[in-house]
Amino acid sequence: MEHVRREARGPVALLVLDRPKALNALDSAMLRALAARCAELAGDGSVRAVVLTGEGRAFAAGADIAEMRGHDALEAERFSRLGHATLAALEALAVPVIAAVNGYALGGGCELALACDWIYASERSRFGQPEVGLGLVPGFGGTTRLVRRVGPAWAKELVLSGEPIDAATALRIGLVQEVVEPGHQLARAVALAETIAAQAPLGVYATLASSRAAIPSAEHAAASRLMPDLKPIMGSADVAEGMRAFMERRAGKFSGR
Ligand code: CAA
Repeated sequence: MEHVRREARGPVALLVLDRPKALNALDSAMLRALAARCAELAGDGSVRAVVLTGEGRAFAAGADIAEMRGHDALEAERFSRLGHATLAALEALAVPVIAAVNGYALGGGCELALACDWIYASERSRFGQPEVGLGLVPGFGGTTRLVRRVGPAWAKELVLSGEPIDAATALRIGLVQEVVEPGHQLARAVALAETIAAQAPLGVYATLASSRAAIPSAEHAAASRLMPDLKPIMGSADVAEGMRAFMERRAGKFSGR
């Protein structure tokens, strides 16, 4: 679990994505570590709220492209399911989970932030779903969770253009709750988590469960009919080209094959 640090702030558990050299890109090891942290938190009655953040200049710059480059169709499907299951485990915690976004939240990183109950962001944050520029689709439930959070029109613009948006735009469209000066997002998230942690726990859990029941469940988001169909995509020439282009720091040239 070395890539997902856990720190205690009284009754608030802080989870820190800690792979800053790769901008906290989510590889299988990191996803498994995050899932293990969720299991740990689910069994720890002393934790009353969770704050999730990233070390360095990114929250998470997406799923790990270097790892995904080596995937065949079956491995890609497994990786996507691991991402879905991990985000669903986070979303299923009985306590509120707040994202403190410190920089890039792109692709799987944006999807991870969306799996939190709400997001506080630094002015330097950038949000987006750049997968289409890699020949891919948002693979960790982003299509579903974005529609839920910002409505279908903005969600479709983000996932189809691949263009990132700045923090002010994210605030305007309701993707984030509040934008603060760089460096203040964690304190803001922890302060609110502490306020919630000071309330009567049973009332908080019941209230949160009831609020969450108003939106489609994690299982619903992960249901296969709502997951983009990966079969025609994985193993395509465009995916290979998109990921090669990222590694070679150029734009991909796509053929539709
Ligand atoms: N996967 C693997 N490595 C990544 C990464 C990713 N998603 N994002 C960044 N990195 C690595 C870079 O390769 C680089 O490594 P080296 O120093 O070893 O070369 C390091 O992190 C720093 O990145 P940059 O040098 O690129 O930093 P920058 O400031 O020039 O650019 C950035 C920052 C705009 C975020 C750029 O890194 C970027 O575009 N990253 C990829 C974003 C992306 O496409 N995310 C979606 C991934 S696919 C996905 O997430 C699928 C899904 O839905 C699950």
